[in-house]
Amino acid sequence: MQVFNSIKEIQQWSLQNKKQGKTIGLVPTMGYLHNGHLSLVREARKQCDIVIVSIFVNPIQFGVNEDFDEYPRDIQRDQLRLEAEKADAIFAPAIKEMYPGGYNTYVEVLGEIPGKLCGSRRPGHFRGVTTVVSKLFNICLPDKAFFGQKDAQQALIVEKMVKELNFPLEIVRVPIVREEDGLAMSSRNVYLDHEQRHEALILWQALQKAQESIRSGETNVETVRRQIKQMIVACPQAQIDYIEIYNASDLADLQKIRGQVLIALAVKFGSTRLIDNLIVEV
Ligand code: PAF
Repeated sequence: MQVFNSIKEIQQWSLQNKKQGKTIGLVPTMGYLHNGHLSLVREARKQCDIVIVSIFVNPIQFGVNEDFDEYPRDIQRDQLRLEAEKADAIFAPAIKEMYPGGYNTYVEVLGEIPGKLCGSRRPGHFRGVTTVVSKLFNICLPDKAFFGQKDAQQALIVEKMVKELNFPLEIVRVPIVREEDGLAMSSRNVYLDHEQRHEALILWQALQKAQESIRSGETNVETVRRQIKQMIVACPQAQIDYIEIYNASDLADLQKIRGQVLIALAVKFGSTRLIDNLIVEV
């Protein structure tokens, strides 16, 4: 497995691979890899000849009061995990390689999708994501890029950007990977203390309960949101950021629950903000 820090070098390497007719799969990550990331790598391994994993904690997608400095990093451990998964290359640039002095170009998707959920709570976050992802696409030249369903809104926004800016690649969405007890895997789970880790299970429990309720005929958005809220507020450390139910393909508001709906949650346990979601087909 090769490790690249230079944009020029990985771009040349990708070009050479493409000239030889090889397909490239890119898994963009911020590192501190867990099994959720590795499931993206495995999917890329199945679908493409060459697998590149980018590891870059992207400063421009963090707000001023967010956890950029504390975000967990362990490149050596990541490297071992990726070797075991037979990834072909890691791209781990320094911040100044991606954003040299005077950097001033950004890519932003506007409209309803980025204006909801995390987009309305984290100003500038998705502009940071779409900017870095566009750069990674231009640098690594993937035929396919793999994104986790855990960040459902991010996947929708990146899909829209790829379509509207005509990037010549396909976005592949990979299902959420959960711990045995149901907690969605996230690099931020390491911040949780024992009690918060236990309370955080309520997210998956509430999502399942909501699914049950919808499947047994409940079509009222407010009723389902209230049911979820009741379960979460029973946890002493939980502070709800949002509980939302939208159309799964475009985050449009719903008069009634029908079709494919996305139930999305963001809840803080102590200072750790977790997100989770479930798509329910009615
Ligand atoms: O999902 C993430 O880890 C990040 O938002 C991404 C896509 C790697 C961009 O920095």
